[in-house]
Amino acid sequence: MMDTVAVDAGTRNDRSRPRFREQLRVNGREHELDLDPRTTLLDALREHLGMTGTKKGCDHGQCGACTVHVDGRRVLSCLTLASLVGDAEVRTVEGLEATDGTLHPMQEAFVACDGFQCGYCTPGQLMSAVALVEDEGCPTDRTQVQEAMSGNLCRCGAYPGIVDAIERVRDREVAR
Ligand code: FES
Ligand code: FES
Repeated sequence: MMDTVAVDAGTRNDRSRPRFREQLRVNGREHELDLDPRTTLLDALREHLGMTGTKKGCDHGQCGACTVHVDGRRVLSCLTLASLVGDAEVRTVEGLEATDGTLHPMQEAFVACDGFQCGYCTPGQLMSAVALVEDEGCPTDRTQVQEAMSGNLCRCGAYPGIVDAIERVRDREVAR
């Protein structure tokens, strides 16, 4: 009969390994976590904070499903150690909607433009799209928008709707 090894959910590490205390600020709330030093930001969010909106696709930096913002910049949380986030502000898909439940304009645009099918890639697509429009100076050329979103894969092929949604929000921002 095989021995059973105590596994810390999400980190795949046994409890005898060194731990560290990490303060994480996520969507405006402070959290104190006791983590293995090798814990990724993705696992800290999903497995330790129970924030499963951020998706794990490839876990190797190739699909974009895990995209979140760290101090306004989009990062791949599967390639980011939680220990390196420090006191930066992490924003996840759970932080997009307003406190009264009103959807973020990009979420509304994804719905209006059919920017998803199964929805698995959608949180990462949304976080990249919001960073593109809010912080990166969204291009006016459609091909350049596609290029800026090329790190986010969609196995359902919802790309046309995703780009439509981004252009819709971009144009509304410009018209303000
Ligand atoms: S899960 Fe991070 S890039 Fe795929
Ligand atoms: S909507 Fe299914 S993977 Fe993108």
